Amino acid sequence: MLGSVVFQGPCKGPIAFLIKGVLKAPTDPALFLTDHWISFQFIDQLVVKGGGSLDGQGSSAWPYNDCFKNPHCKPLPVTMRFDFITNSRVHHLKSFNSKNSHFNLFACNNMNMSNIRITAPAHSPNTDGIHIGTSTNIKISRSLIGTGDDCISMVAGSQNIDITDVSCGPGHGFSVGSLGKSHNEEYVTGITIRNCTLSNTDNGLRIKTWAPSLPTVASGFTFEDIMMNNVLNPIIIDQQYCPSPNCDNNAYSQVQIRNVTFKNIWGVSSSKVAVNLKCSGSVPCENIKLVDINLAYKGGGGPATSLCSNVKGQSSGRENPPGCI
Ligand SMILES: *[C@@H]1O[C@H](CO)[C@@H](O)[C@H](O)[C@H]1NC(C)=O
Ligand SMILES: *[C@@H]1O[C@H](CO)[C@@H](O)[C@H](O)[C@H]1NC(C)=O
Ligand SMILES: *[C@@H]1O[C@H](CO)[C@@H](O)[C@H](O)[C@H]1NC(C)=O
Repeated sequence: MLGSVVFQGPCKGPIAFLIKGVLKAPTDPALFLTDHWISFQFIDQLVVKGGGSLDGQGSSAWPYNDCFKNPHCKPLPVTMRFDFITNSRVHHLKSFNSKNSHFNLFACNNMNMSNIRITAPAHSPNTDGIHIGTSTNIKISRSLIGTGDDCISMVAGSQNIDITDVSCGPGHGFSVGSLGKSHNEEYVTGITIRNCTLSNTDNGLRIKTWAPSLPTVASGFTFEDIMMNNVLNPIIIDQQYCPSPNCDNNAYSQVQIRNVTFKNIWGVSSSKVAVNLKCSGSVPCENIKLVDINLAYKGGGGPATSLCSNVKGQSSGRENPPGCI
């Protein structure tokens, strides 16, 4: 049993933390005075490894999560936070039933995560697998992520993120955004997701921006060699994202999405609209490429379809569903 801890630099490694066995978090969220359970800050050359497990014991805390209706909610603690961590590696760790996100990276540079196993039930609220913001040169590989929210989410300032050999599901898939909520958001650029599988997720590859929004840019993404296994929205750009009830459907996002390639994406969509590119009416998406898309829908009422609005780009190679750009 471990209470909330912070390991704070500045210090320069190499420093290795070995986690073996199972660490359990306190069940009562009121015992956490911080936004995390285990946190590392301002460390260069950190290694966290060891094959052990982090048990966030979230199930008793999830009912306290009212963030979907209360904008001033107190967030539950993240299982493991990395803030201002550079030239570091995290590998061979398991995390289950986090209270909030499992892993959160903020202001990190050159960090590799591999052989991570993340598990939480599909209904657990806000349990992102790995949440990344304001971080550069991050690689995530050879990992299994099944959770209640995004498997990997990348928000403002995520740059040069490389994701390979990750299997995701259940969960909300790989997600960029939501973008455009605050002033002067850092751009999101250079995201590659390759050789990954999504199974029974709500989304596959998603980019979402608020409407209305403030201006920013999301560009230079490659999504390649991805298998969709019963995914509700396999390919989705949603620039009209507004999950709350009082949304202005005529408001536009000002986030410019540019240079996005979806290549060799195949498998089964669990909804009829397998490709949904809903771009902004004020700054249309530019240079969107769909190459060799083969997504089937078997639910009846006809084959899979695609929907596009305000998209500039091109489709080529296999086009199932038929392209709409
Ligand atoms: C992360 O992986 C890349 C490519 O495998 C490697 O070049 C880089 O040095 C690694 N970084 C760290 C901190 O281990
Ligand atoms: C793709 O991922 C699978 C496991 O999901 C792995 O066995 C295979 O080596 C990967 N292929 C490449 C080219 O990385
Ligand atoms: C978009 O791609 C074009 C060429 O394909 C390149 O010239 C341009 O710099 C890219 N822009 C961004 C913002 O990535």
